[in-house]
Formats: sequence, structure tokens, C-alpha cells
Amino acid sequence: MTNQTQYPAGALIVAEHVSKSYPVGNSTVDILHDVSLTVSEGEVCAIMGPSGSGKSTLLYCLAGLEQPTSGEVALLGKSLTRSTRKQLAELRRAELGFVFQSYNLMPTLPVAENVALPFRLRGERVDRARIEAALDAVGLGGRGSSLPSSMSGGEQQRVAIARVLAQRPQIVFADEPTGALDTRAGRIVLSELRRIGSTPGQCVLIVTHDPAVAASCDRVVFMRDGRLAQQMSAPTTEGVAGMLASLEASVAEVA
Ligand SMILES: Nc1ncnc2c1ncn2[C@@H]1O[C@H](COP(=O)(O)OP(=O)(O)OP(=O)(O)O)[C@@H](O)[C@H]1O
Ligand SMILES: [Mg+2]
Repeated sequence: MTNQTQYPAGALIVAEHVSKSYPVGNSTVDILHDVSLTVSEGEVCAIMGPSGSGKSTLLYCLAGLEQPTSGEVALLGKSLTRSTRKQLAELRRAELGFVFQSYNLMPTLPVAENVALPFRLRGERVDRARIEAALDAVGLGGRGSSLPSSMSGGEQQRVAIARVLAQRPQIVFADEPTGALDTRAGRIVLSELRRIGSTPGQCVLIVTHDPAVAASCDRVVFMRDGRLAQQMSAPTTEGVAGMLASLEASVAEVA
């Protein structure tokens, strides 16, 4: 069976009616309900919402790291549900970049080797200049021989971002990419992600709690109780903060 289907031109991430449940004890708990979302090339899209609203779960489903209970996800025009495990691994290795706190670095490999890992996994020659440029871009120039275990959480996160920058994947998934960073490092990382997102043929999907980060994206989608509640194009910090506050208040009312 082919996994090549027709999706809108330029749509790099397509989620259609994605639901996700987890078994808990003898029953199941429904986390995502019927989420449909398209992210197109040249777009940086943010996902926001109250804690526990399902943002990370959605990102994992869209990135092919979790299997939706129902619904379809397609990346770069290829259906994930109809891909074999091998096809999925190849796609992930070649075209996807992840900045997740739990998607971690190899602690015993020097920083430069961690950044070079995707090249090695693909059996490609490692371009040292590109690795060093990526480390420079996140403010870690000259730190290539350090071990991740000797670095702070924020520095480790920047290594993960350098890995994405060196690899230049078509789609970047980032969960709280600036969460552990100070203002300056956060600004560097964000501008690098924006640069990736605005490149033709590429896009970035970011989960963030920070209205200023969301406002620097092209579009913000808001989640509430596992559903997409709102969308905002050309977002502003005030607009995003206001929407988030009203969603949090409505969650508190129900609780
Ligand atoms: N493996 C799992 N088994 C059971 N429940 C889970 C599992 N993973 C997540 N959940 C639940 O799903 C809900 C959504 O979790 P998720 O991590 O997606 O939220 P989030 O919006 O990313 O929150 P935060 O902003 O705090 O990171 C939470 O209630 C969480 O407890
Ligand atoms: Mg989360």
C-alpha cells in the first residue's frame, strides 16, 4: 500500500481528527479529542493552552513519537499511520528535528558529537564547520568538547537546538524550547527557529507558555481540555496573554 496521499500543496503537517486515549487502571482516559490542524511551509506555529490541556501529547502524536488512538497524521505528504516502522524511522532521521527536554542528549558523548549524531546515524560525512557554526549560533562556540553532563539544563537544551540547526530538517518540533533559557539565550534560539520556519519548504511547531514567544510566531493555536479552542493569526503578546487567561479561567471554573 502506498503512503503517498494527496494533501494541500505546501502542507507539511496535516492532522485530521486526531484523538488520543491512555489506559489508566481498568479504563481509559481521553486526552485529545478530534484535533485537526495543518501547518504549511514557511510557517512557525505555536501551541498554547493551560497546563494539562494536551499540548505535549499533541506534539508527540504529530511528530510520530506517539500513535494517535484514532485519526490521521501526515508529514511531508506521507501518512504516518500508513508508514512502516522503518519508513517512520527514516523520516524522523532525515527530515524531522526535535527539541524536547525528554528527547535527550547522549550524556557520555561530547557536545560536538551529539550535534553530529544525526549525520552519523545516516552514515554521512560530518561537516565540522557546520557543527561549529550551529554551536556558535546558540552561543556555545568552543564548547564542542564538553560533556552534556557538565552543562546546565539550558545549555543542554541549546545543544539540542544546535543539533537541529546543523541538520536543517524540514520540520522542527519544539516543546518549550525557551523554557529553560535566560532572556538572551531564549532570543537567540527563537530567532534561529524563526529562520528555519521562514525558509521555503520548512516549518516549525512550538509548544510554549510564553506569550512573547507565541507572539513572535506566525500563528497561535490554543488548546483547552484536549481540543483546539481558538486560533490567532498575526498574534500580539497582549492578545495571546488575554486569550490564555480566559482559557485558564474557564478551566478553573469547570474544576
Ligand atoms: N502516558 C500517559 N498516561 C496517562 N495520562 C497521560 C499520559 N501522558 C499524559 N497524560 C495526561 O494527559 C494530559 C495532557 O498532558 P500533556 O503533557 O499533553 O499536557 P500539556 O498541555 O503539555 O501540559 P504542560 O503545560 O503542563 O506541559 C494530562 O492530564 C496528563 O496527565
Ligand atoms: Mg507539556
